[in-house]
Amino acid sequence: MAKAPAKRAIVLGASGGIGAAVVARLRQFGGYEVLTGSRSGSADFLFDLTDESSIARAAEQVGNSEPVDLVFIATGLLHRDDGMNPEKSWRAVNAAYMSEIFAVNAIGPALVAKHFLPLLKRDRRAVLAALSARVGSIDDNRLGGWHSYRASKAALNMLMKTFAIELSRRNPHSIIASLHPGTVDTGLSRPFQRSVGAAGLFAPEECADALLKVIDSLKPEDSGGLFGWDGARIPF
Ligand SMILES: NC(=O)c1ccc[n+]([C@@H]2O[C@H](COP(=O)([O-])OP(=O)(O)OC[C@H]3O[C@@H](n4cnc5c(N)ncnc54)[C@H](OP(=O)(O)O)[C@@H]3O)[C@@H](O)[C@H]2O)c1
Repeated sequence: MAKAPAKRAIVLGASGGIGAAVVARLRQFGGYEVLTGSRSGSADFLFDLTDESSIARAAEQVGNSEPVDLVFIATGLLHRDDGMNPEKSWRAVNAAYMSEIFAVNAIGPALVAKHFLPLLKRDRRAVLAALSARVGSIDDNRLGGWHSYRASKAALNMLMKTFAIELSRRNPHSIIASLHPGTVDTGLSRPFQRSVGAAGLFAPEECADALLKVIDSLKPEDSGGLFGWDGARIPF
């Protein structure tokens, strides 16, 4: 019997803690051919979320081959080593930090969607998933703080919902999902891990397994939603 052709995935942010684990898991267990993209290093293509022409070039480069089953956006920004940190109070709101956080967490993924959604299969199940965060849920915001990051993820969730409505008209089998990965042991969460404790902290591989299971379980009627690592829908 002829072997079914491998499914095809593109992972943007493959240098990240979660992104690298998703690439490894897709290759090991998911039966996917994976194309990787990152800002620098040895990925299949390079792009910077703050430079639309680099995103367009990357999509053109990978768009020459077969349509894909999965686009996974694993990029994101919370803090930088140079002291750029999430706000504890409105007194810390700073336009430069807020602009950068929005550029990477909301505008960049929207530009990726603009250039990569056309690469998805049009006649069968095809998924675009973007890593978001529970703290971007307006409904779930009980603690306050992290004003820019929260708002950028809320914006990301709305953008993905809006793209989902539009994409469903082109392909009724398509799914776009924002995903909350849990608290995962990566560079992004490292300065903030004390509050969750070791028991609440996922290894990137565990997180990748959980998120790929969620992606597998999603149906077209779920498209546009925000989902946790356990598959539960998180209210906007
Ligand atoms: N870790 C957690 O506990 C946690 C919790 C909730 C949500 N999330 C979300 O999960 C996602 C991934 O986080 P992570 O923990 O894997 O973080 P990470 O290890 O810091 O990875 C972040 C990724 O984003 C890329 N990136 C940042 N700015 C970019 C730009 N301008 N252009 C292109 N790529 C850029 C980084 O590329 P470089 O390697 O070039 O810097 C890296 O690949 C983020 O959206 C984050 O908000 C994480």
